[in-house]
Amino acid sequence: MGNLLLSNMSLKIIEITSQQTLSIRHQVMWPTKPLDYVKLPNDNEGLHYGLVLCNELISVISLFINDGEAQFRKFATLENCQGKGYGSLLLNEIMQIAANQSLTRIWCNARQNKTDFYTKFGMTITEKTYVKGGIDFVVMERVF
Ligand SMILES: CC(C)(COP(=O)(O)OP(=O)(O)OC[C@H]1O[C@@H](n2cnc3c(N)ncnc32)[C@H](O)[C@@H]1OP(=O)(O)O)[C@@H](O)C(=O)NCCC(=O)NCCS
Repeated sequence: MGNLLLSNMSLKIIEITSQQTLSIRHQVMWPTKPLDYVKLPNDNEGLHYGLVLCNELISVISLFINDGEAQFRKFATLENCQGKGYGSLLLNEIMQIAANQSLTRIWCNARQNKTDFYTKFGMTITEKTYVKGGIDFVVMERVF
């Protein structure tokens, strides 16, 4: 596994490969589809991070940097570990990484019903909205 970014004994945030994100993406987001369905065409251009609890990878997120801006995608925590603050730890780390790299903005496509979650990380709603697969999305951003 890659560089250690944060650690407190049983809990670590590390850089991982895109390959290592796939199992959690698949289990959490699209369990009924083939594994290939959760691969992104530009996965090899992304930075991938994972939260490891007691040697088990339980939460993943992928960061794609273009023109000084970062988009995070495929943020997922194993279902039995959700709601315990692990995803927030990981997202805070990603915010820190983006800020340290002198990026101008970090953004994501958020489900409309999850905007309150991202607001906690200093992100705000933009005017860009769309519907995909019957789900309402809005672009959320944090400008540094
Ligand atoms: C979105 C996701 C990655 C968040 O990961 P997580 O590990 O559950 O994140 P957290 O536990 O930090 O936060 C989740 C919720 O639990 C709450 N929470 C955090 N720590 C908590 C604690 N100790 N006790 C109770 N609740 C807590 C958070 O406030 C948050 O609440 P909210 O959703 O009402 O805002 C996860 O829910 C997931 O995998 N969802 C399915 C995939 C998905 O929708 N991904 C987003 C696509 S961009």
